[in-house]
Order: sequence, then C-alpha cells, then structure tokens
Amino acid sequence: MYVVVNAAVSADGKLSTRRREQLRISGEADFDRVDRLRAEADAVVVGVGTVLADDPSLTRFDRERREAVGKTGSPARVVVDSSCRTPADAAILDGDPDTYLLVTDDAPAGARADLVDAGARLVEATGDDGRVTLPGAFAALEAEGLSELMVEGGGELIFSLFRDGLVDELTTFVGNLVVGGRDAPTLADGEGFVEAFPRLELADVDPLDEGVVLRWTVADG
Ligand SMILES: NC(=O)c1ccc[n+]([C@@H]2O[C@H](COP(=O)([O-])OP(=O)(O)OC[C@H]3O[C@@H](n4cnc5c(N)ncnc54)[C@H](OP(=O)(O)O)[C@@H]3O)[C@@H](O)[C@H]2O)c1
Repeated sequence: MYVVVNAAVSADGKLSTRRREQLRISGEADFDRVDRLRAEADAVVVGVGTVLADDPSLTRFDRERREAVGKTGSPARVVVDSSCRTPADAAILDGDPDTYLLVTDDAPAGARADLVDAGARLVEATGDDGRVTLPGAFAALEAEGLSELMVEGGGELIFSLFRDGLVDELTTFVGNLVVGGRDAPTLADGEGFVEAFPRLELADVDPLDEGVVLRWTVADG
C-alpha cells in the first residue's frame, strides 16, 4: 500500500474557512497537478466531512498521465464514512468510477441499503473507537486491487492517517491568503500529537500559481 496525501492550504495552514465551505486556494496550474496525481492513483480517498461540505465528484484526472503510468480506467473513489452519512444523491456516487464506502458494523441498515442502491460498494472495518479502522479498511482496499491511494482530505482524516502511520508522502499547495479562525479546519485536525510527532523529509519545493508546492516524504512511513 502506498498513500499520498494532497491538499491545498492557506499560508496559515487552513483547508477552508470556519464555515467549512469550499475555498479556492490554488489556481489552474495546481488543478492540473492534482489531476496528474489522481491519474497515478488506484483510488482517490476523502472523509465524509469533505463529502458533506464540498460534495465533490472526484471524476477529473489527467487521461494522458494515466496512460503513461500504465493504468486503465478511472481512479476509484473512496469515502471514509463510519455511519453511512453520505447522501444517496451525493456527486461522489455519480458517473462510472467505482465508489467504495468504508463503514462500520454500526452503520444503520436503511442508509446502507440506500447507498448500495445508489451504486456504492460497502467495505466494513470497525475500530475500537466505533469509527472506521483505517489500517483494516486500507488492507481490504488492497485486497480489491487498490494499492496506490491519493487522499484529498479533510483534516480529521489526514490526522488519523498520520496517527496510524499510513502516510508515505504529503504534498501541499500553500496559497497566498490568510484564512484564520480557531475553528477553521487545518491540514491535520483530530486530537493532535503531543509527542512522537511524525517527521517528514523535504523532497521538493516548487513555486506554482501564486503559491508553492511542498512535497514531503514521511521519514518512517
Ligand atoms: N483545501 C483542501 O485541499 C481540502 C480538501 C478536502 C477538504 N477540505 C475541507 O475540509 C473540510 C472537511 O474536513 P473534515 O476534517 O471536517 O472532514 P474529513 O476529514 O473529510 O472527514 C472526517 C470524518 O470522517 C469520518 N471518519 C471515519 N473514520 C475516521 C477515522 N478513523 N479518522 C478520521 N475520520 C474518520 C468521521 O465521520 P464519521 O464518524 O461519521 O465516520 C469524521 O468526522 C471542509 O471544510 C472541506 O472544504 C479542504
């Protein structure tokens, strides 16, 4: 399993505003970069918080790049969604690519049935905290042939991935705006670390659009 996390953050590290509304942080050149990254992945992964806030379809990717890396079809889509809060009419269920929902055994039967009817493929992986256990869920995705994952957020999911030692690479576009707000989502939210901080090694720094792309590898990832 190889996991790349990619996100756009403001200069002060925010993913969006305190209203949790989608925010344009980067520009066209960065959208193209993201399309290339998606093309290289077997699946694009988001948390249900991002589905509820942004309603992304995650169907865009760079077709030439996908061919160049020897992959066929479209990247699958994955939502980490313990209790099946993804609406059955969410854009992430539109179109051809497969959509996997990572759920727990507590997810309500009615919501499960509605999502299966809407075309979702459910993968059950329940952690001790009642949320999706990411190591277990990712192992199940790998068994489905999805071994290169690109995670696009949000901050709750990204924190859990670092906590569970699942991140291999982190790429951020850092944009030229300050968002502020103690309640605005940041790149890694969750409960936060107080020790044993995951350490990164800087692999690339590229000015792009009105900001900069930072690529890090995870020292022990
Ligand atoms: N700038 C960017 O690049 C970018 C990218 C993506 C998102 N965003 C922004 O980020 C915000 C959404 O982020 P978010 O942090 O609220 O939500 P998120 O990370 O997308 O989703 C978090 C949710 O995932 C579910 N989950 C299930 N198992 C989990 C686990 N083991 N660890 C963590 N989460 C788990 C939880 O809901 P359940 O308990 O119900 O399962 C949790 O509340 C929005 O404002 C969006 O606009 C920005």
